[in-house]
Amino acid sequence: MQPKKVAIFISGRGSNAQALIEQQNNKAYQVVLVLGSHEKSEIPNFCLKHSVPFVSVNKDHFFNEDFLLKTLEEFQIELICLAGFLWKIPTFLTQKYPNKILNIHPSLLPKYGGKGMYGIKIHEAVIANQEKESGVTIHWVNEDYDKGEILFQAKIFIDKNDTPQRLADKILALEHQSYTQVLESVCK
Ligand code: GRF
Repeated sequence: MQPKKVAIFISGRGSNAQALIEQQNNKAYQVVLVLGSHEKSEIPNFCLKHSVPFVSVNKDHFFNEDFLLKTLEEFQIELICLAGFLWKIPTFLTQKYPNKILNIHPSLLPKYGGKGMYGIKIHEAVIANQEKESGVTIHWVNEDYDKGEILFQAKIFIDKNDTPQRLADKILALEHQSYTQVLESVCK
């Protein structure tokens, strides 16, 4: 079986994208494109080292149906992984890739999801609400932010000494282990 051709969309530092690329020696998938909504991170260099094309897009490109679909077709993309990608996925893309776009979210959805819930804000809200647990969710993407079918969740217990940043760090480590596993099982 040929590895599934995967594109990763990122907006930030791209540590999940790096983990997915570093762990792709399983033959289930191959990352053939990273699409970034800015170039500030170290990801363009990382991609260069790993021979993965990196395409930087602005909003005009990304929301241009013709441009985006042609780019994905050019790389024969079969699955898309969102990894810290902040722009809303346009309907033309969810229609073209139904149940073929995954997202990873650093909370136990449906809690702490939706518009505006990203980054450290999530962990600040979890700690402020004195939650006992948090974790990682991986789900299919549909038209609503963070509302597609959930495929996977992993929980961690919150320690009384956890700060939002400590919690973010623990969950990020869990994300790096989980995303590859879920992507592999989806590809099989
Ligand atoms: C991760 O916590 C991910 O769950 C969320 O945004 C963060 C992205 O981190 N959607 P990185 O860019 O992969 O380092």
